[in-house]
Amino acid sequence: MKQAGREIINLGIGNPDLMPPAEALKNFQMEMDKGDAHGYQPYRGIKQLRTSMAQWYKRIYGVTIDEEREILPLMGSKEGITHISLAFLNPGDEVLIPDPAYPAYGSVTKMVGAVPRYFPLKPESGWLPEFRELRKSDLSRVRLMWLNYPNMPTGVSASEGLFADAVKFGRENDILICHDNPYSMILNDKPLSILSVGGAKKIAVELNSLSKSHNMAGWRIGLVVSDERKIRFIQTVKSNMDSGMFKPLQLAAASALDCSRKWYENQNAIYQKRQNIAFQILDKMQCKYERQQSGLFVWARIPPEFRDSETYSEHVLKTCDIFLCPGHIFGRRGEKYIRLSLCNSQQILKKVLGRVD
Ligand SMILES: Cc1ncc(COP(=O)(O)O)c(C=O)c1O
Repeated sequence: MKQAGREIINLGIGNPDLMPPAEALKNFQMEMDKGDAHGYQPYRGIKQLRTSMAQWYKRIYGVTIDEEREILPLMGSKEGITHISLAFLNPGDEVLIPDPAYPAYGSVTKMVGAVPRYFPLKPESGWLPEFRELRKSDLSRVRLMWLNYPNMPTGVSASEGLFADAVKFGRENDILICHDNPYSMILNDKPLSILSVGGAKKIAVELNSLSKSHNMAGWRIGLVVSDERKIRFIQTVKSNMDSGMFKPLQLAAASALDCSRKWYENQNAIYQKRQNIAFQILDKMQCKYERQQSGLFVWARIPPEFRDSETYSEHVLKTCDIFLCPGHIFGRRGEKYIRLSLCNSQQILKKVLGRVD
């Protein structure tokens, strides 16, 4: 459609359009000119980055991490999904995966020869896992479970109770709980980590990322946090795949993590304004949604006259030149939903508002 000259507005993808903290950009440029910047770097990341990551975990979540043993910097959290799966799964192992969810959990599970076992997140249960239902099923072959709160795509935020339940479930059934936490800083009053639950490191690993929290998606900076033993297993896999991250990137990421509370507040003020316009767009489109949503997206139910999200997304694309992400790509439970990205300026969102009139 673009090639045919149509001006398509893409509200599909969560690729932040805002700038990283200025300090990170300045440091990156400065570090590039240094003589020791261009060689291989340690597999487990340079100390300055691990220190900043550990301090950030303490400051944001109140979680104490041993920066020498319990943290491994990653090239984005996505590679962490693969490393964790390679480190802990054998062919035939079962993996509990939410439906709907980030598609990589399922595809990587299959890639390593393990078996995805999808469990439903239902709107009537607040899009939260129903541990009681899961306990009724045969869990004997389940080795690992994926969770992600604030949740993508549904926008539901985390709670201490949810994380406590997840850790309890993991310990009772010897299931590794893998919590993916890239959205905790966005439109979310109370950032939480699963590792704040007592004893969580024994049974849980947490992925985090600077992609969305610091507008650094293209830099590829993430981290995985757990106890020493599990971090060592993950590092064994990762060290056979890459040979360390470019030093200026690591130092710049460290300074991004040191940014002020004010910096996050400014980002959130921008996302808040965008979210309000997104709500107006959805009102006009007669989509139903919750006003309390965290993360970079708004999740909304399609109007009842449309059969499914793909049909609706196609309809909006053809009639308004706007692309909305159809919910079915996140799983069967997303079939009646669409996801709208807040990674577009107010100006663009207002244009969308005009188009859906
Ligand atoms: C839930 C979730 N996890 C992980 C990622 C991957 O993020 P990154 O690899 O940029 O850290 C994304 C990206 O969209 C995501 O939505």
